[in-house]
Amino acid sequence: MAGFDIVAYLEEKKALVDSALTEFFPETNPLFPMMRYSIEGGKRIRPILALTTYQAAGGSDIDAVMPTACALELIHTYSLIHDDLPCMDNDDLRRGKASSHKRFGEAPAILAGDGLFAYAFELFTYGDGLIAEKIAVVKAVSEAVGPKGVVYGQLLDIATEKSMTPHALRMIHRYKTAEFIAVSVRAGAILAQARPAVLATLQRTGLYMGMLFQYTDDILDVIGEKSMLGKTPGKDSDAGKLTAPALYGLDGARFRAQRYAARAIERFRSLGDTYAILASLTSFILDRTF
Ligand code: IPE
Ligand code: IPE
Ligand code: MG
Ligand code: MG
Ligand code: MG
Repeated sequence: MAGFDIVAYLEEKKALVDSALTEFFPETNPLFPMMRYSIEGGKRIRPILALTTYQAAGGSDIDAVMPTACALELIHTYSLIHDDLPCMDNDDLRRGKASSHKRFGEAPAILAGDGLFAYAFELFTYGDGLIAEKIAVVKAVSEAVGPKGVVYGQLLDIATEKSMTPHALRMIHRYKTAEFIAVSVRAGAILAQARPAVLATLQRTGLYMGMLFQYTDDILDVIGEKSMLGKTPGKDSDAGKLTAPALYGLDGARFRAQRYAARAIERFRSLGDTYAILASLTSFILDRTF
């Protein structure tokens, strides 16, 4: 899209998501401030994907999709809190500040993560109407983030005895990251009552985008700047993780990232002009520095 400013678009949508998130965090008990601490500072890619596809698929009431968009961010943030724990990736820095367990201690951090995960489902089912669509979103998200999705991917990721093969890397990337990105793309379209054929294309395309997202995350762990990332680079190779650069080298990883991006862009374009922002977002993810 000539002249389209994706950075300005992302900033605008991030501001909307951030202000909606604030409303969902009442100070009713000490868990909420801990949950909000970790929520602050993310790029909000998953909620923005949901908002963008909702509008691309013809949805016009942003309030109908916002709680779902925020719920995706809650689940993502829970996964980051648990991912950073000493028994997982042991990361002290997240979103530019001390990770949850460093700030509050391990047990409270685990509980803040649990709280975010469960609270997300209150938000998925928030408000009246679109009952069938909300159930479809809950079903799709549960599959993408539970034992057939993120949780499984995280188990594969931390395994110490694993073969350094393309198949093993694809499994880790698909389950820990790509399925969740794909359902974030699809959720907005479900709420906008998109046709099944469109939803199927969005799922496949979202998986390509999600694979790309984890490729760039792996690449940034090698070449990224701590100040930009808000997390500590170089952790993957220290931990002997199976990542795209570890398997293919930096150039090989970049080449494959470009291929995933090209596949996603082609398919978003095939859905028509209203999906052009998703193609721009794909290019942004390919070139991101944070
Ligand atoms: C980091 O996700 C974890 C991955 C799945 C790669 P993001 O890069 O979206 O992190 P935030 O939300 O901006 O902090
Ligand atoms: C995390 O992957 C994927 C999650 C499900 C949280 P990473 O472990 O590579 O994410 P970062 O680099 O710590 O953000
Ligand atoms: Mg990890
Ligand atoms: Mg990590
Ligand atoms: Mg990483």
